[in-house]
Amino acid sequence: MSGCQINPNTIRPIRFFNGMCQMLDQRLLPAEEVWIDYTSCEGVAEAIRTMVVRGAPAIGVAAAIGVWFGVRDLETESCEEFYTEMEKICAVLAATRPTAVNLFWALERMKSFAKANLDRSVMELKIGLEYEALAITQEDEQLCIKLGRQGESLIPDGARVLTHCNAGALATAGYGTALGVIRAAVAAGKKISVIADETRPFLQGSRLTAWELQKDNIPVTLICDNMAGYLMSKGEIDCVIVGADRIAANGDVANKIGTYTVAVLAKEHNIPFYVAAPLSTIDLSLSDGSQIPIEERGAREITHVKDIQLAPEGIEVRNPAFDVTPNRLVSAIITERGVVTEHYLQNLSALF
Ligand code: MRU
Repeated sequence: MSGCQINPNTIRPIRFFNGMCQMLDQRLLPAEEVWIDYTSCEGVAEAIRTMVVRGAPAIGVAAAIGVWFGVRDLETESCEEFYTEMEKICAVLAATRPTAVNLFWALERMKSFAKANLDRSVMELKIGLEYEALAITQEDEQLCIKLGRQGESLIPDGARVLTHCNAGALATAGYGTALGVIRAAVAAGKKISVIADETRPFLQGSRLTAWELQKDNIPVTLICDNMAGYLMSKGEIDCVIVGADRIAANGDVANKIGTYTVAVLAKEHNIPFYVAAPLSTIDLSLSDGSQIPIEERGAREITHVKDIQLAPEGIEVRNPAFDVTPNRLVSAIITERGVVTEHYLQNLSALF
């Protein structure tokens, strides 16, 4: 970890040490900071499904740990049988949330490690998989720091930056993607202020982005999602930066519902619209964004806030959790390996 400037107070939503894992319950923030212990694959799967842990890279990290929890108690001495059981464990985790490709990327990485080491003993496989999960966790924070440095020069001194959802430390192993770029710009001495969309219905903007930026003393102003256009029309937003859950080979970007609306507004007002995401979020197997599976969540997230009913009983509800922003609205995709501003089809695949 030498050479990296990690603030000792950095927010890390997943603690993985001594064979156990704790996750900060993101459903309860900002009112309560509650850590939950996890020791089983099923527990981790439930944490991903119910959004104790959320954000594409963090979901990937949690899934890798979940795989290790699942395999460590397998009793077989046969590596082939071990691998068959491991595939079942991965299937449980894969069924939690469909859009963030980092989940599937992490499961594939764990499986590839096992596959490449099937000539070893089951004990060695188990130890190796624990290290692999730990490596995925540590690498994620490191690559967010790199990504932040790659993107920082796009953010001018004095910029008022709009962000949507939470692509911060809470959505990764630490530091964040979109908020990582903002943190890097602040670390470079720029005066940056952030405008956070509240991000209905799960309120990642008001509950999480506002919370973590406030903790870091980065100026942040909260708005409702429907206020972004007004602020843009008044010249009060200089650029937009968001994260991503999955980026297709042509640069179409799936991110939190409402991102597309913000991108259209940014285009109308000639405001740069940046996407910050690690390579593990880019899915070269999908030629365009229409192939990205979009999660639909339950009606209650919209009809209620906690136990308060906001809509009539029995009302028809749609709750798509993500949307797809077409590449033509994206000014740049910032990754840990470089910034791509055009010809996404060729230039994104060239990063790999
Ligand atoms: O439903 P969520 O909270 O998991 O959605 C999170 C987002 O859409 C983030 O913007 C995305 O995962 C990028 S996180 C670095």
